[in-house]
This record gives sequence, C-alpha cells and structure tokens, in this order.
Amino acid sequence: MKITVKVPATTANLGPGFDCLGLALPIYNEITVEETVMPGSGIEINIIDDSETFDILSIPKDENNIAYKAIQLLYNFIGQSASDLKITIKTNIPVTRGLGSSASVIIGGLIAANELLGHPADEAVLLSIASEVEGHPDNVTPALVGGFCLSSLESDGSVVYSKIDWPVNWKLTLIVPDYELDTSIARSVLPDCVSVHDAAYNIRKCALLIDAIYKKDSELIKKCFKDKIHQPYREKLVKGFKELNEFLENKEDILGCVISGSGPTFLVISENDGFEKVKDDVKIIFEDLNVNCDIKTLNIENEGSKII
Ligand code: HSE
Repeated sequence: MKITVKVPATTANLGPGFDCLGLALPIYNEITVEETVMPGSGIEINIIDDSETFDILSIPKDENNIAYKAIQLLYNFIGQSASDLKITIKTNIPVTRGLGSSASVIIGGLIAANELLGHPADEAVLLSIASEVEGHPDNVTPALVGGFCLSSLESDGSVVYSKIDWPVNWKLTLIVPDYELDTSIARSVLPDCVSVHDAAYNIRKCALLIDAIYKKDSELIKKCFKDKIHQPYREKLVKGFKELNEFLENKEDILGCVISGSGPTFLVISENDGFEKVKDDVKIIFEDLNVNCDIKTLNIENEGSKII
C-alpha cells in the first residue's frame, strides 16, 4: 500500500507569539510513504523538487531525515520498528526559509504512516510526536489542522491548541529571499534568558494580537506585531528587516510586518489590496540590498493536511 499526503506550508510566531502562534498557507509539499515489497530492503528516501529552485541536497536521505524520525517514533508508539519503508518527498515549500518545510514533511510522514498502520494514533498523539521531532508546536499544528492556531507544548509532551478564524480580507504576503537560514542558526542567536520587562512586553502584545484577530480589528492589530524576544536578535541574520519595517510603517492598509518563523522570509499582513500599492517600492528596497526575492500574496489555508 502507498499513501500520499498533501501538507501546507506554515508561518510561525507572527511577531510576539514566539513558539506559539502559526498559520497555514496554500503552498504544499506531498509526502508519500509505502512499505517496500522486499522485507529487509531498508529505508529509501527520495526528494523531488518540482520547481527545481531549492537546495534539496541538504535534506538527509537516511535515518536522520525528520520524516523518517517521526515515523520511527510512531512505530515505537505501537511497539514496532519502522525498517522497510520508501518515503518520497515532493517539495514546493521553500526549504530553510521559515515557511515550515520541515513541519510539513514531519506531518506528512506521520499521517501517511498512521494510515498504513490502520490509525493507531489519534490527532493528539500525532501532534505530540511531531512537536517532539520539531521542538516546538507552532508550525506542526497548523500544518496538520490548517488555519490560524495557538499551540502550547506541555511539559508532558502533549500539545494543547486552539484555532481562531482569520479575517478573510487580511492577506498574507511572503517576501522570500534567495538565501537560506537554518532554524538551528536562527535559534542559536537567541538568549537563554530574557528580562521580565521584555517577557511582559511580549505577553501584552500577544494578548492584544489574539483579541484583534478575534475581533477582526484592523486598527488594534497594527499595534500588536512587535516583539522583544526573538526578532531583535535575528535582525542581523535577515537582510532588510529594519528597512522594510520603516518603509511599511503607517502605510495605508498595511497591518504589520514580521519575520516568518525563524526567517529569512518576511510576512506582511495587509488589508485587501494594501500590499499591491507598495509592492514596487518593496522590490526596490530589496534590490538596493542586493537580495533577490520571490514575492507572493496569499490567503490563509484553512483545511490543513489531506490524504490524496
Ligand atoms: N518558533 C520557531 C522559531 C519557528 O522562531 O524558531 C521556526 O520556524
């Protein structure tokens, strides 16, 4: 049997919601898992880059592959070991750009393997395993269930999450630079401890951000995307953060601009066609910085992963 799962990209943090907030985007990877015919043939991992634009050579094709690691944990959950499997990852989500490509292959691998095994794991188990492999739940949760999610990784390894409707006229523009930034590097620049002052700043911004999204309040949300616990440290790794934020400040129908996940992609949240009005100027900002970017404006993806 062979199972293929289509999994959306995700953008995490949304400014103050570090390791907690995330939403799904309509760009998809497809992950296929099949049992190999010959017992003892081992694990085979194939990566197909449809767009031929990503550096897929850096993706491990052995036991270190994160889809395989997640599948192995699922097999362990039922007291077995995953030995003879073929995993095919068809990539459309840019790799190491802060768009949840790793979360997508973890979730895709888990859903497909769970289907092959006859559904031994429920959603809670899948999310717990996915968060263990990923280290945080903010990408894997919306990758699985779609939409805008608030997730908390609990000390027992379980994930508590809540999904809130995203306002339909709030568009999501991705500015995807042509250079990579590994999440481990973007996390290594963060301090082990932050001050109570900075933590309190993020708590109040995040609380207001959720309220603004819930109430679809486009004036309130403009005050909510700043944070003091990750973006200030990552600014030096993502070219254009300061320039872009300064330019977009107070522009009509622009609601906010943040680093997508751990970067280097930027996420601009705008109302209606707000981004279209500034797109040409934004291109010039990145041209001046000698950074090639792919810019696309999308709606939220509300469905999450699907077996196809
Ligand atoms: N919350 C994670 C981080 C997302 O900011 O490191 C990684 O994509």
